[in-house]
Amino acid sequence: MKKILVVYYSQSGQLQRVVETITSPLVAAADVELQVEPLRPAVEYPYPWPLLRFLDAFPESVRLDPPPLQPPAIDREARYDLVILAYTVWFLAPAPPVVAFLRSEVGRAVLRDTPVITVIACRNMWHLAQEKMKTLLREAGARLSDNVVLVDQGSSLATFVTTPRWMLTGRRDRLWGLFPPAGVAEEEIAASARFGHAILDALRQGSLDGRRPVLTGLRAVKADIRLVPGEKIATRSFLIWSRLIRLMGLPGSPGRKPVLLIYLVFLLAMIMTVVPISMALRALLRPLFARRLEAQRLYFEGPSGRGEERMREYARMARR
Ligand SMILES: Cc1cc2nc3c(=O)[nH]c(=O)nc-3n(C[C@H](O)[C@H](O)[C@H](O)COP(=O)(O)O)c2cc1C
Repeated sequence: MKKILVVYYSQSGQLQRVVETITSPLVAAADVELQVEPLRPAVEYPYPWPLLRFLDAFPESVRLDPPPLQPPAIDREARYDLVILAYTVWFLAPAPPVVAFLRSEVGRAVLRDTPVITVIACRNMWHLAQEKMKTLLREAGARLSDNVVLVDQGSSLATFVTTPRWMLTGRRDRLWGLFPPAGVAEEEIAASARFGHAILDALRQGSLDGRRPVLTGLRAVKADIRLVPGEKIATRSFLIWSRLIRLMGLPGSPGRKPVLLIYLVFLLAMIMTVVPISMALRALLRPLFARRLEAQRLYFEGPSGRGEERMREYARMARR
């Protein structure tokens, strides 16, 4: 019997559906025991989010300083052949409840010396969040086997409208015939069952040991390295502003509101000026740095990569 622990935190249920789809072949397998643990903060975050409450979550998210969780029903003595850790990205960092789990005693106990597959479903800015995740996993003594990334459908410009609209109103539908529905495309979620089939095969072959990836050739990750410089600039500004906001009080305290509003104006101004200018400059300079950028792309796409050589075989299984 192979034992798998699945841990995730999902607000709208999108990441939950991704998890259910990926694990469907594992649920059906008689030789796999699957334990699924949705994380629950001691005080739930709102969804949809009031605007100021949304902004108020940013200082603690970027500083990886999460609020406490309700204790998950996991035995800290239990050992697993695999932990699947599915997370969303909040302000360029793993969502706080997942950070809380990684930092908890029980989280550290079950992750130690255990292969981990991370699954991300977010707008599209996940690159630096996964770097933070790698550090958290290293601190917990876990072994990162693979990373799977699903991003919201549409261009960066479209999701700049559709994702916040979804978070702030709960509405995901197509907008003005101009913007696609918010979130990850349904076909992409359905097709993610291929990862479950590949995990099952690797478990049965004994190749899932956290030392080499088992989800290569399945188009697990496509990095968009054009986003990385913006993520770096934003992280730096988030860290500076979060220090200031935390001086004004704890999450939810009224003293934080004026600074949050000033920050919102600053952020929107940055997004509309600095970001497009720096993206245009970088696009012009890209040919000069082609080799370095290719190395960067390969780095962010590790360990599983964007290769497609096993797609046909596993896509057929996923459709069945
Ligand atoms: C507070 C907050 C901050 C977010 N920040 C980011 C971000 O920095 N990058 C990103 O790609 N997506 C971001 N998102 C979108 C989430 O990663 C995710 O796609 C969305 O919350 C839906 O996930 P769910 O399954 O929990 O409903 C953010 C969402 C929330 C609620």
